[in-house]
Amino acid sequence: MNLDEFLHNLHYDIDQVKPPDFEIDWEDAPLPYKLYRDLPTIPLSTQLPLKASGRKPMASLETIGTFLWHAYGITQFSESIYMDSPDLLQQLRRFVPSGGGLYPNEVYVYLKVEGLADGVYHYDAAHHRLGMLREGSFDSYLTQALGWRCNIENCFGAVFVTTMFWKNFFKYNHFAYRLQGLDAGALIGQILELGKRFGYSSYVFFQFLDRAVNHLLGLKEEEESIYAVIPLSHKPEFGLLSGGKGDISADRLINLMPELETDYFIRSKNILDYPMITKMNEAAMFDSIGCFSPNKTTETVKEEGETIFLPQHDRLEYDFTTVCRKRYSPDMDFAMKKVTQRELSILLQEVAKNFINQNDLGDSGDKIELYGCFYNVEDIPDGAYRYNSSAHSLELIRSGDLRLRLQSGMTAHNVNLYQVPICLHIVGSVDHLKEDLGYRGYRIQQMKAGMLIQRLLLAASALDMGGHPLLGFDVAMSDTLYGFEGKKSSLIQIPIGTHQPRPWLKGILI
Ligand SMILES: Cc1cc2nc3c(=O)[nH]c(=O)nc-3n(C[C@H](O)[C@H](O)[C@H](O)COP(=O)(O)O)c2cc1C
Repeated sequence: MNLDEFLHNLHYDIDQVKPPDFEIDWEDAPLPYKLYRDLPTIPLSTQLPLKASGRKPMASLETIGTFLWHAYGITQFSESIYMDSPDLLQQLRRFVPSGGGLYPNEVYVYLKVEGLADGVYHYDAAHHRLGMLREGSFDSYLTQALGWRCNIENCFGAVFVTTMFWKNFFKYNHFAYRLQGLDAGALIGQILELGKRFGYSSYVFFQFLDRAVNHLLGLKEEEESIYAVIPLSHKPEFGLLSGGKGDISADRLINLMPELETDYFIRSKNILDYPMITKMNEAAMFDSIGCFSPNKTTETVKEEGETIFLPQHDRLEYDFTTVCRKRYSPDMDFAMKKVTQRELSILLQEVAKNFINQNDLGDSGDKIELYGCFYNVEDIPDGAYRYNSSAHSLELIRSGDLRLRLQSGMTAHNVNLYQVPICLHIVGSVDHLKEDLGYRGYRIQQMKAGMLIQRLLLAASALDMGGHPLLGFDVAMSDTLYGFEGKKSSLIQIPIGTHQPRPWLKGILI
């Protein structure tokens, strides 16, 4: 299978991306977190509740602890019943969602803060602590790895989001590739939201010299690879540079620094090969900054159609920790209740206000869009709509109650869409920036969609509703419903609505 076929099948024919006789070896499942052996460790603060407003302290070891715990800490242990399975489902949950609750990403930080030696650390989610990988200043190395587009000297640190392929490959086989980008995006969305709460400026770099960053973190690219770099600063303009200081290769940077020898534990004894993921990862890499594409934010194109303009609202104020704690993905517990136009409008506006392209590509011709099917929403006739974020309006595409179509498009009927008033689809172009970014465009598109997922889920939770991201739906059916005709495609489906309390045992960790 070539890479284009692989990407096509990931969306339209997922049986083709798994061997027919593939069986999950649950006995040999990996841990959902990486445990390093023999690293010097630094415990993090357990003073965790994050106040939404008030004094914004300078970053310190204590604030970084709160930040990381909200971003990717293990926050809850739960035990529940899954459909008609006789076994109890046990989950170590985090504030971000993740396909199958497997959390294939890992978080690393480069920090220059009070109370901690400058250096590069792994965030050990299992123990809520840092493991030191390299001590020293890496400002110049990172500035170069980002192609001289951000002056890391002006930042107090940077967060690295990586993907550890085996962590969800063991269950999803090659379908894992689609989940890995979306999961990383949800985590990035959470990190950006946290940045705002802490008063830090942040910016997402999707483009960098992958092998140079992997080398800095000591990653073996066939096991784990960098997906995004997010510098953090106290200054509003933290030093975006125009790049253009000449080309530089990953190899040249790698030669500046010795290799890092590390040892870690992930529990699985028999780790299978994932040849298509390895090939995709290699094809997506940038080995020199000449490959980078500039930020080319585009104008929104006005489209024809019956339009409903939604009212404007003030920004939603909420206690971040409480809203994160409340968030979970309802399934059979959705319970139909009429949604007011105000609620829908606030939900969409929260996302629109956050549509600011805080990343090194802007929307670069690959604008991620929101489409949705609504039922039982006040003053919005039932039907399928496109959301126009610049006009904050809904453009009608197809009228009627579409719940039966949506329900029949589900691959597993674990979510009752009859009880759901809002069913959103995040949509992107089918060519996913291939012309400008080659195969890297695909995973960037998935990450951008993931960032939007997290904003939607936080806003829904703040409005006392729940949202459930789903890939188990028929993409071709949804594309036909919206009339995409092969140009755009639904990347993920997110039903949103009120729900009953779930019958589960849940314990808060820390
Ligand atoms: C990218 C992505 C895809 C997902 N796809 C599905 C899906 O197809 N079916 C499903 O039931 N849940 C799906 N989920 C929901 C996860 O299973 C859920 O987030 C995870 O079990 C953690 O639970 P929580 O969201 O309640 O914290 C998906 C989540 C993400 C982030």
